[in-house]
Amino acid sequence: MLTTRLTHAFGIEHPVVLAPMDVVSGARLAMAVTDAGGLGLLGGGYGDERWLKREFATAAGTRVGCGFITWSLARRPGLLDIALEHRPAAVMLSFGDPAPFADRIRAAGVPLICQVHTLDQARQALDAGADVVVAQGGEAGGHGAGTRSTFTLVPDIADLIADRSPGTLLLGAGGVADGRGLAAALALGADGVLVGTRFWATEEADASARAQARAVAADGDDTLRTTVYDIVRRYDWPAPYDARLLRNQFVERWHGRESELDAHLTEVAAEFTAALAEQDFDLANVIVGEGVGLVREILPAGEVVRRMAQDAAARLGRWAPRTAALGG
Ligand SMILES: Cc1cc2nc3c(=O)[nH]c(=O)nc-3n(C[C@H](O)[C@H](O)[C@H](O)COP(=O)(O)O)c2cc1C
Repeated sequence: MLTTRLTHAFGIEHPVVLAPMDVVSGARLAMAVTDAGGLGLLGGGYGDERWLKREFATAAGTRVGCGFITWSLARRPGLLDIALEHRPAAVMLSFGDPAPFADRIRAAGVPLICQVHTLDQARQALDAGADVVVAQGGEAGGHGAGTRSTFTLVPDIADLIADRSPGTLLLGAGGVADGRGLAAALALGADGVLVGTRFWATEEADASARAQARAVAADGDDTLRTTVYDIVRRYDWPAPYDARLLRNQFVERWHGRESELDAHLTEVAAEFTAALAEQDFDLANVIVGEGVGLVREILPAGEVVRRMAQDAAARLGRWAPRTAALGG
């Protein structure tokens, strides 16, 4: 239906890639996306060796890749060897300099995907020899730099790639939750999309059903970018990163009062841990992007892939004759 350089390069049917969402993108979800004709990436995230081995073992026989948070991988570089032993379809690196890992990934014959948020980071990814660059706009769920929107970042990086490394592929990420988003990303110069939030809200995601229900009820105005959950989880994310997630009581209380949160960290961290265990999402975090407003039901992931691809193809097809007429 929609053939692009991405579908050719990876031998997939639809130009849709599952974002490697930390722990949420387990084997079940990655396999469901691959089986539906997209490409599933396991969410290696901060790096848990037992989780990684178990999920790769479960996905054995299905073509999936995996992603890491680069600054965290630098503290546990052995995890990359574990991933490479499983001959992943790709390794994706986000949030940090990919150069220290790029040679090992390419020497293993595995495609390197680098997620970036600025033109400078895109140049760094091209210098490292990325096979695929993901341009992530600030609409995205989860961590990012939040300074650029998908709508301008994708064509900006498309131009950079055309100029410096035309063989490199480009994915758009951030706010792509349906066929309109996929069609738009392709029109902006991407070869496909990387999708997080829409797949988080699927049956196969390792996400709490209670959190998913809250997200389905939310709209696109209900998210913001903040560092409060990184502080309370004691994750030392380097500048300039923060994360987009759903507003709740915890965010209303601490966003903008980060130094006070720091000062009360021991007690607030205990409250947060208890809230997480009780699935109390007034206090615990629900990590989704602006695209959450387009999520109206929890669906099987394969259905999301098929609907997104079909709808994008129909939309782009609808425009083709008019464009030709205009051109004539
Ligand atoms: C719940 C959640 C967890 C995420 N975890 C990671 C992660 O561990 N590593 C990563 O590279 N990106 C992560 N992301 C960001 C995605 O890679 C991607 O950029 C983003 O989801 C795209 O925007 P969207 O959420 O609007 O689809 C996460 C996103 C979400 C929603």
